[in-house]
Amino acid sequence: MKRILAFGGSTSSTSINKQFAHYAAHLLKDVDLTLIDLNDFDVPLFNVDLEKSEGLPENALRFKQCIESMDGIVVSLAEHNGNYAAAFKNLIDWVSRIEGKIWSEKKMFLMATSPGGRGGASVLEIALAAFPRYGASIEASFSLPSFSENFSPEGIKNEELAKSFAEQLTKFSNSI
Ligand SMILES: Cc1cc2nc3c(=O)[nH]c(=O)nc-3n(C[C@H](O)[C@H](O)[C@H](O)COP(=O)(O)O)c2cc1C
Repeated sequence: MKRILAFGGSTSSTSINKQFAHYAAHLLKDVDLTLIDLNDFDVPLFNVDLEKSEGLPENALRFKQCIESMDGIVVSLAEHNGNYAAAFKNLIDWVSRIEGKIWSEKKMFLMATSPGGRGGASVLEIALAAFPRYGASIEASFSLPSFSENFSPEGIKNEELAKSFAEQLTKFSNSI
């Protein structure tokens, strides 16, 4: 059975991206799911001097091991001022010091959502361009705008968005 890691790129206790990533992962059939919370991978603020004196944080090593043990990754990124949430960026900065290929050539379903009408389009665009350079094989992507209007735990309410999401999920599912 294929192993899938799912997480939101946020440390908010009420993260809509964590909710969305976990929701999408649950729809995948016949997979072994590992659902994580970035709060369980807390690391200090990256600093080259700290790296020199203390080495790599255990939680960065654990996160990298987690990625390596998977066949695929479902991630939904929070957007802060058009970019990654700082905690997510900080974690992947540490992980990049273990290996430049942060994502270990794993297949990825890359998503973003936000309460606003752009659905994290800016951070999604940044990650779509950057993650392949850092070892992600992006098989599908999706942005969900206006999360509270469009999402319910039973599914995506807007018909057009639901169709597009289902197509991307199938693309990812077929790739793993
Ligand atoms: C510092 C900060 C900056 C934000 N910047 C953006 C932004 O650029 N675009 C956007 O759509 N939402 C922005 N938001 C709203 C977030 O999308 C919203 O807080 C969302 O819930 C974050 O995802 P999360 O719940 O998974 O943490 C920002 C929120 C914060 C706290």
